[in-house]
Amino acid sequence: MRNGTCWLDDQGHTIQAHGGMITRFHEKWYWYGENKDADNCKVNGRLLSRVDVRGVSCYSSDDLHLWHHEGIVLPAEPTDPSSPLYPGKVCERPKVIYCEHTGKYVMWFHSDAADYTLANAACATSDTPVGPFTLQKTVTPNRRDCRDMTLFQDEGTGMAYLIHSGDWNKTLYLSQLDETFTDFTGVCFEAFPGQEREAPAFFKRQGLYYSITSGCTGWAPNSALYAVGQHLSNGLKLIDNPCEGEGCHETFGGQSTYIFEDQQRYYLMLDHWKPMDLRNSGYSILPIAFEKERMIIRWTDEF
Ligand code: DGJ
Repeated sequence: MRNGTCWLDDQGHTIQAHGGMITRFHEKWYWYGENKDADNCKVNGRLLSRVDVRGVSCYSSDDLHLWHHEGIVLPAEPTDPSSPLYPGKVCERPKVIYCEHTGKYVMWFHSDAADYTLANAACATSDTPVGPFTLQKTVTPNRRDCRDMTLFQDEGTGMAYLIHSGDWNKTLYLSQLDETFTDFTGVCFEAFPGQEREAPAFFKRQGLYYSITSGCTGWAPNSALYAVGQHLSNGLKLIDNPCEGEGCHETFGGQSTYIFEDQQRYYLMLDHWKPMDLRNSGYSILPIAFEKERMIIRWTDEF
């Protein structure tokens, strides 16, 4: 898989799983993400940097390389203008975790109006990793806005968090989920107040919490920053740009979306957005190296 390009599935079709995540359920890999397989929208002949909502796709794989499309597991709802899945809205950065307590797979995504002024989070659940997912609700977590977001489950405590850019992207919030993962406990931690970080990706390694985030420049790449901390509750500390080498100041042309672990190695997933041809936006998966606690990410041509 050539990093920075749009990859193909086992049928030769472009993988449509943007702003996504790779995770493992029962020894199989699953990749969820935005299906953007449509022409960019046009208004009065002018091309816009958006595509209508098509839904959330799921791919499965045994080896992280050959991906099989399991279908659109949460499809758009073209007949219901009030639905967050109505094509004229925004459905971005879907993430899925398994809830032991209910036995459900729980998806959260950033749900918005076309102009991004609504800033909600939406939740859907399924009995299987490959859907169908049923929409449950649309909310403002702890009365905060939600734009770019991710899910993070703390293996130690089992607690899960919806981590979302709020206050018009000024601050990142960690909204703790209740035992069903579909609601909030009311506990909410702040990270990076006033620092304007988005595209959050979190993981835990050797007892420390890490995050990688991007700056807020729309679809254009910018410098990533990593942060580290001993507790989620008192905010992680922003350290530095983890990227090294040519293109490091623009995250090699990409933007973070998720970090997954395989055999105690961590991998950063990037989207390489093509704002005027979003369906052909590319992907990268880059290994994360550590020198003690310092994080280093270098470009590799292939994953
Ligand atoms: C940056 C975000 O990271 C993307 O997910 C998307 O919302 C764009 N902004 C829209 O401009």
